[in-house]
Amino acid sequence: MPQFESLQSEADAAIAAATDTAELERLRVAYLGRKGQVTVALRGLKDLPADQRPEAGAEIQAIRAHIEQALAERGEALAETEIQAQVSAEQLDVTLRGRTLPPGARHPTILTLQRICNWFARFGYGVNYGPEIEDDYHNFEALNIPPQHPARAMHDTFYFGDGRLLRTHTSPVQVRTMSESKPPIRIIAPGRVYRCDSDPTHSPMFHQVEGLCIEENVSMADLKGVVTAFLRDFFEDREIETRFRASYFPFTEPSAEVDVRRAGGDWLEVLGCGMVHPAVLREGGIDPERYTGFAFGMGVERLAMLYYGIRDLRVMFANDLRFLDQFGGTAQ
Ligand code: DAH
Repeated sequence: MPQFESLQSEADAAIAAATDTAELERLRVAYLGRKGQVTVALRGLKDLPADQRPEAGAEIQAIRAHIEQALAERGEALAETEIQAQVSAEQLDVTLRGRTLPPGARHPTILTLQRICNWFARFGYGVNYGPEIEDDYHNFEALNIPPQHPARAMHDTFYFGDGRLLRTHTSPVQVRTMSESKPPIRIIAPGRVYRCDSDPTHSPMFHQVEGLCIEENVSMADLKGVVTAFLRDFFEDREIETRFRASYFPFTEPSAEVDVRRAGGDWLEVLGCGMVHPAVLREGGIDPERYTGFAFGMGVERLAMLYYGIRDLRVMFANDLRFLDQFGGTAQ
């Protein structure tokens, strides 16, 4: 019968066009549900003349079976597509690398400090730290720099106005060490120092390492030996030339500045040193008739720049990761 035929072809088209299982369920209700078109048609059989009912009944049953079959097949296909879509949406590649935190790198100043400290540790030097907020006595007076001494003008000191100041060098740790311990003394004092000075080649804060050795019979020859051996190892260069140039520091006598030269290059100043002045020993409670000592002080940023070939001091303080990331190594 024609109306039944169109029912089947409509249902076929709708089922084929369904794009998800929810829509398919609505179609099932629309055709096969209690008020669905097929159900209604079956119920309408009773209104037909008796002789037509068997044939019409068989036809509708066949349509119902056909629609059921079509729904089931389409349902399976759609369920499969939906599962595939879900699986690919939730895809997890367990072989991918995890997200790790990028490892940090030590600052070249710190790497250099550690290399210096490790070297002196091998020769029995202990490590002392003094306060960064110092007093006039330790930073100047006990180091043979009395109030009107011209050397004070070179130090560009930050004063707090109450007698305290930011230490301008690590030399005050010499004084503190002498007054707290008895010879033999072998220490280095690494740390921050401050000067009221800021331009492309000066930073208001930088690092120094102080060295102090006080024993009986220590001489300038020992100082030269230690400093030369250190510089050779520090620059990893057996052939490095060193030059002890006569200089002046109030707390050492004699005093020298040390220059290095690599492979015929220019002489570069790397540190100050000398024999501890008798007045400084006496101030530290040490008998200068019995003991002698040598001291040295070096700028860590300066040594780091020479070692790594860094030309501009400002990059040492700029916190630019493109610069800092290049020093991934750990201290040796
Ligand atoms: N304290 C000096 C400065 O900051 C460096 C120095 C020179 C330290 C000679 C010393 C030394 O121990 O003997 O310029």
